[in-house]
Amino acid sequence: GGGLVIAIDGPSGSGKSSTAKGVARARELSYLDTGAMYRAITWWMLDNGIDVADAAAVAEAAARPVITVGTDPSAPTIEVDGADVAGAIRADGVTGSVSAVSAVPEVRELLVARQREIIAEACATTAGIVVEGRDITTVVAPDAPVKLFLTASAEARAQRRSREVRSSDVAATQEALARRDRLDSSRSVSPLTRTDDATELDTTGLSLDEVVALVVKLADEAQ
Ligand code: C5P
Repeated sequence: GGGLVIAIDGPSGSGKSSTAKGVARARELSYLDTGAMYRAITWWMLDNGIDVADAAAVAEAAARPVITVGTDPSAPTIEVDGADVAGAIRADGVTGSVSAVSAVPEVRELLVARQREIIAEACATTAGIVVEGRDITTVVAPDAPVKLFLTASAEARAQRRSREVRSSDVAATQEALARRDRLDSSRSVSPLTRTDDATELDTTGLSLDEVVALVVKLADEAQ
């Protein structure tokens, strides 16, 4: 298929999910939240009593959960072994453990393979797909015609995330985001990094509509 792939990376709270969904809706593309897949496998590890600090145990169990993702940007879904985990994967316990699980090479190998299948399927059956995560521009879809690296100030990211999780403790949220970004950027396998050919977009002073319009323009120019 000749579907368009838009790859978006960036740290937590940079606006990736809202932007990716907005662009996908605007251009009738599919949408893939790869972070939800890492969260889902992490949820399963915790639910099955696997010590997430034990990389060998995580690696050994990684192929057991069946993770299913729905790619409609207006109603994305995530299931583990047929159960809806959309709410459960946003819990603090998962958020606090996901960086450890996603640093395990066997986990990444499995999920990256699955993500590439989903991208190929979307390109064959729809106009294309917007994919967001930490290693999309570098590993999952390095040949995507549109590659973006979203950033925002630490304060803006903490404000947004606090609103999302309905927390009034912005300082604690900022602290947790900084910790996760440090782990995600320093791991040895597929760390969050910006490549030279990804367009950097600082969303700090921009509204969601403005960011979506900018990305749609880039996508239209790439086609
Ligand atoms: O995007 P979100 O913040 O939900 O991602 C949760 C976690 O999943 C990240 O902190 C990171 O550890 C991991 N992740 C990853 N690679 C991706 C997407 C997410 O390692 N492509």
